[in-house]
Amino acid sequence: NMMNTKIERVNPEQIDETIMEEAGRLIAEGELVAFPTETVYGLGGDALHPEAARKIYAAKGRPSDNPLIVHIADFSDMERVAREVPEAARKLAGAFWPGPLTMIVWKSDAVPMATTGGMDTVAVRMPNHPVALDLIRKSGCLIAAPSANTSGRPSPTEASHVAEDLSGRIAMILDGGPVGIGIESTIIDLTESKPMVLRPGYITPQMLSKVLGEEVIIDPGIIAADDTRKPKAPGMKYKHYAPKADMVIVDGSSAAVISRINALVHEKQENGKKVAVIATEETRSSYHADVILSMGSRSNEDAIAQHLYKILRECDELHVDAIYSESFQTPRIGQAIMNRLLKAAGHTVIHCD
Ligand code: TXA
Ligand code: MG
Repeated sequence: NMMNTKIERVNPEQIDETIMEEAGRLIAEGELVAFPTETVYGLGGDALHPEAARKIYAAKGRPSDNPLIVHIADFSDMERVAREVPEAARKLAGAFWPGPLTMIVWKSDAVPMATTGGMDTVAVRMPNHPVALDLIRKSGCLIAAPSANTSGRPSPTEASHVAEDLSGRIAMILDGGPVGIGIESTIIDLTESKPMVLRPGYITPQMLSKVLGEEVIIDPGIIAADDTRKPKAPGMKYKHYAPKADMVIVDGSSAAVISRINALVHEKQENGKKVAVIATEETRSSYHADVILSMGSRSNEDAIAQHLYKILRECDELHVDAIYSESFQTPRIGQAIMNRLLKAAGHTVIHCD
């Protein structure tokens, strides 16, 4: 049962009221609308309507035990979805909302179990994007929105990625152009004795800790390369973001990485394989491969985050058999970038000097 997906271009600096009213009405009627946020595109539905949550899981092909993030436009809505609002949530909202931070709190009865994947807690975020905020306000709803990709594919950073995955399955896509950040929001769990980061993102543990005035820990389950420790966020346990080709990360000094990758590429090509290298502006001309994809300058970590998912999608489109990637342990958001890259590579890393 495919439907006709309307794709509407919306300029974030000059929002078209007519389009937004229609999009808001669709959400209020229980339909799904994909929309831009500052992190990645989201697939929105009425967060307080169990049927909308079920539609979201079906459209994404996502397991229904993986909870959705509830997007709000006003802090007072936190009081509707949370059983009680912790002091820490007020502090963090003051510092980072609207913005790329999701907070986990105990849920109120208003939030259906269909939205939280059966959990007693709820994830809440106020996105920093005029189209997202306007859609929430115009719909008169709170909007449940996972990333707007098919389950298992890289998150969408442009409307065309959403269309690739979800055309025919949702009512509308709002195209607000490429997103600003490119990786999903940081998730902090405020229901434990110590605040805990469940998913690293643009807002770092150091930034959170500074605002809270206490230590912020990182879920050990997201750092482990094996599956001996389960991540607390259900979504972090799935093999996400995986390109179709085998991917290997090569780590070490720049010169060592270049010569090792070139040797590995040569070996694959001898066996008739098509090979891609994920490089930087500084190193791209040093590689010999079928495809060389640049994440941008190594000195610009924001650009690296912005390009990551688009590049993983390109690898799929180009039908390469193998991908070798440089490592991106950059100073501030390197942890968030490497979390996604390591998952894409199934934690296969070669270290060289
Ligand atoms: O940047 C973002 O957060 C984007 C945009 C659209 O806002 N959304 C997003 O949603 O990344 P999604 O569904 O792709 O990822 C949500 C993550 C999943 O790993 C899920 O398991 C976790 O949040 N999560 C949601 N509710 C949770 C809860 N109550 N407890 C623990 N983890 C939760
Ligand atoms: Mg996702």
